[in-house]
Amino acid sequence: MTGGTRLAGEVAVPGAKNSVLKLMAASLLAAGRTMLSAVPDILDVSVMSKVLAGLGATVERDAAGGRLSIEVPQAPGVAADGELVRQIRASVAVLGPLVARRGEARVALPGGDAIGSRALDIHVNGLTKLGALVDVESGVLVARCSGRLQGASIWLDFPSVGATENLLMAGVLAKGTTVIDNAAQEPEIADLCAMLTAMGGRIDGAGSSTLIIDGVDQLTSVEHRTVADRIVAGTYAIGALMTGGDVLIRHGQAAHLSIVLEKLVQAGAEVDVRDDGFRVVGRGQPRSIDVVTLPYPGFPTDLLPQIIALESVSRGTSLITENIFDSRFAFCRELHKLGADLRTDGHHVIVRPTARLSGTRVTASDVRAGAGLVLAGLVADGVTEVSDVHHIDRGYARFVENMTDLGADIRRVSDRAVA
Ligand code: EPU
Repeated sequence: MTGGTRLAGEVAVPGAKNSVLKLMAASLLAAGRTMLSAVPDILDVSVMSKVLAGLGATVERDAAGGRLSIEVPQAPGVAADGELVRQIRASVAVLGPLVARRGEARVALPGGDAIGSRALDIHVNGLTKLGALVDVESGVLVARCSGRLQGASIWLDFPSVGATENLLMAGVLAKGTTVIDNAAQEPEIADLCAMLTAMGGRIDGAGSSTLIIDGVDQLTSVEHRTVADRIVAGTYAIGALMTGGDVLIRHGQAAHLSIVLEKLVQAGAEVDVRDDGFRVVGRGQPRSIDVVTLPYPGFPTDLLPQIIALESVSRGTSLITENIFDSRFAFCRELHKLGADLRTDGHHVIVRPTARLSGTRVTASDVRAGAGLVLAGLVADGVTEVSDVHHIDRGYARFVENMTDLGADIRRVSDRAVA
């Protein structure tokens, strides 16, 4: 891409990657046809569809229309394909539904982005509390339970998104009451609660840090619309500010981005919240801001690379602190190649002002790092070439097309590079 253009116009935000993948897993909780809408046309949905197909489900996708139909048999398989599971960490979400419904689940230790150690102890401890026996056998996590899971009180060491979701999906079919304390409160979890409730689950406290679940014997499949992707919305919002642009982010839910939009306003953006989205206008060079990532409602770690890219062209020095993952700063090495002045120390990075970023070849190491590099390339002098863009495809539908529509000078050269 060639930097120097401003983003202007409208962009529509699809459903959230980090919700739809769990909604797909939740379909395993009931026999019959689950219909999901606002499904983003991204790579991870394709991989998760194959995981479900491997478990005996029939998955039909209307990618352009954003619809997904999942027909789940009476007795889905219990072993998720190892090769697929290693490609996306979200596939660990089939663990809860399968052990609850079939009394057994086998899931290879998952892969996904190279952004940290990402243990599963909180999932395992919670499932054990519900009465499952969990072991690792030759790199495969095996959870078993004779009879039904039993409701229990579970206090999470950390409000893990994935563990909260797995325990919710296990708890809805457990016998008796399950209480999850210190639960994650991300909007994607509230979305999962909404779908589980529509299926007949009994959940109190959706969206809060205490979830109380009264187990039921059986659930029914439903139709459900995926919540809008706040990270995709936030990425375009940061791009608008960085480029001195003017972008209407349709379907973006400002309420799910309160702290992010507040920070962007501090940095100089004008934000106008509308009924169906919000508009972000940037004027002149942004002011530097300090950011600390935290579980929701804190600043999302999934916007960290994008915010570091913003800070690298802002006026003044900023301190960014990452509290969720231990390797997200690998991105800084790539941004440094574009001329950014960054110094990392433990889980902090200090970003000092640079006169100009200057385009060169960089590599996306994960989905958000890829998005951050594209944003940096939009304001860098000359041509920036980002490789390994398959990472961006994992979470951003029509990214190049949307950026082009907004006025960016960007094109996809091949599956392996964008320039
Ligand atoms: N953790 C543990 N033990 C566990 C579970 C988590 O130590 O049993 C640690 C992890 O190692 C990590 C932290 O807790 O350091 C947060 O992990 P969490 O379980 O909350 O995250 P996740 O469920 O693995 C989801 C999103 C991530 C997002 C995080 C935090 C999906 C598919 N992934 O991951 O999204 O960053 O929540 O909000 O929902 C992305 O989209 O780019 C992405 C990485």
